[in-house]
Amino acid sequence: MLADKDRIFTNLYGLHDWGLKGAMARGAWDNTKGLLEKGRDWIVNEMKASGLRGRGGAGFPTGLKWSFMPKQSDGRPAYLVVNADESEPGTCKDREIMRHDPHLLVEGCLVAGFAMGAHTVFIYVRGEFIRERERLQAAVDQAVEAGLIGKNNKHDWDLDIVVHHGAGAYICGEETGLLESLEGKKGLPRLKPPFPAAVGVYGCPTTVNNVESIAVAPTILRRGASWFSGIGRPNNVGTKLFCISGHVERPCTVEDAMGITLRELIETHAGGVRGGWDNLLAVIPGGASVRCLPASLCNDLVMDFDSLAKLRSGLGTAAVIVMDKSTDIVRAISRLSYFYKHESCGQCTPCREGTGWMWRVLERMADGRAEKREIDLLLDVTTEIEGHTICALGDAAAWPVQGLIAHFRDEIERRIDAYNARSKPGVGDPLIAEAAE
Ligand SMILES: Cc1cc2nc3c(=O)[nH]c(=O)nc-3n(C[C@H](O)[C@H](O)[C@H](O)COP(=O)(O)O)c2cc1C
Ligand code: SF4
Repeated sequence: MLADKDRIFTNLYGLHDWGLKGAMARGAWDNTKGLLEKGRDWIVNEMKASGLRGRGGAGFPTGLKWSFMPKQSDGRPAYLVVNADESEPGTCKDREIMRHDPHLLVEGCLVAGFAMGAHTVFIYVRGEFIRERERLQAAVDQAVEAGLIGKNNKHDWDLDIVVHHGAGAYICGEETGLLESLEGKKGLPRLKPPFPAAVGVYGCPTTVNNVESIAVAPTILRRGASWFSGIGRPNNVGTKLFCISGHVERPCTVEDAMGITLRELIETHAGGVRGGWDNLLAVIPGGASVRCLPASLCNDLVMDFDSLAKLRSGLGTAAVIVMDKSTDIVRAISRLSYFYKHESCGQCTPCREGTGWMWRVLERMADGRAEKREIDLLLDVTTEIEGHTICALGDAAAWPVQGLIAHFRDEIERRIDAYNARSKPGVGDPLIAEAAE
């Protein structure tokens, strides 16, 4: 378990003052000027050395991403855009940062903005997050008032932070959909390349990072890259916010070390699986978009990017959705399919048509009203969607269905048999089949 001294988010539960005074007492804004004085290259290199991988889902190395920004401006301004859309089902970590420790994010914006030559930062806040936006805006105002950011501030790096409120759509969390929405258009993802570092918001070089990725940066720089990279396992380092929901005794969001086992995470922080560990049916370890894993793979499950990828699942946003044996797993995955169908922006045919098709088939399968050969057909359709769309929503829609078929094919078949036995007496009964011959 993570030692208290290694925690970055020391006010995660809002027990203390969220404001500037409280944040400073906890170490925020401590010698930020000294960090900036070490220069842009030092910050980027230190972030690279820390091994931080983006906390928005894909796990892309943060320092490397920052290094893609042009060193010299060609006349266009550079922008940092913070992704505070947090719409991945099961994920509830960025909102805790905005509610209870917003100054970590504001300070992170200054440090990251400086490192990429940006004088303007947009924070795109999910439409439903009304109170979070208000709190974040209040923290930004406090920082301006105190001369920490804004024009002619004490850090000698002018920085405007614009808190922008989205209208509430999952697709606006996809980074290029977000940029479109920020520009006032529909949140339709863009084809890449060009990548945002070359052509981002308003056609200018842009880096998009998750709230947690930016909020941890000042502490990493203050405590040193080696401190952060010393926690966890190679290529999967640092502390991480995990969101534990579903069939546990005490759902929670908690900061712990990358590489903690699932069992320790659930039993230490969430009071265990409802009805005990043996009552576990399956877990979705990284937000709705990753493949579920059955209980048989959960005993020693290591919670980091590479370990979960080896099992063809993923750490994603580290939103752990726990399902006990009372769960109708086929119906649960069908419900997720409905979500992707609802949220598809409709630009790509495989996603627009495929998400609805998968949902309708899964609804029948949940009842057992299907043919067994349709299971492979469904699997085939997921592979026609995955990798064939403009953005990763297509993949996100395909993976949960693939996880269901990989691990719970028996359950789908059992339902089909049960349905047939109920509605077509004799079908599947070898004695009756023999008599018919
Ligand atoms: C459909 C979809 C929704 C996404 N939603 C979010 C989101 O709500 N928050 C987020 O940070 N990243 C989200 N992402 C990932 C972003 O596109 C992007 O990779 C991320 O913001 C980069 O930040 P990071 O490098 O700090 O992880 C989403 C991606 C997809 C495909
Ligand atoms: S994959 Fe789906 S959500 Fe993404 S651009 Fe295509 S249609 Fe839109």
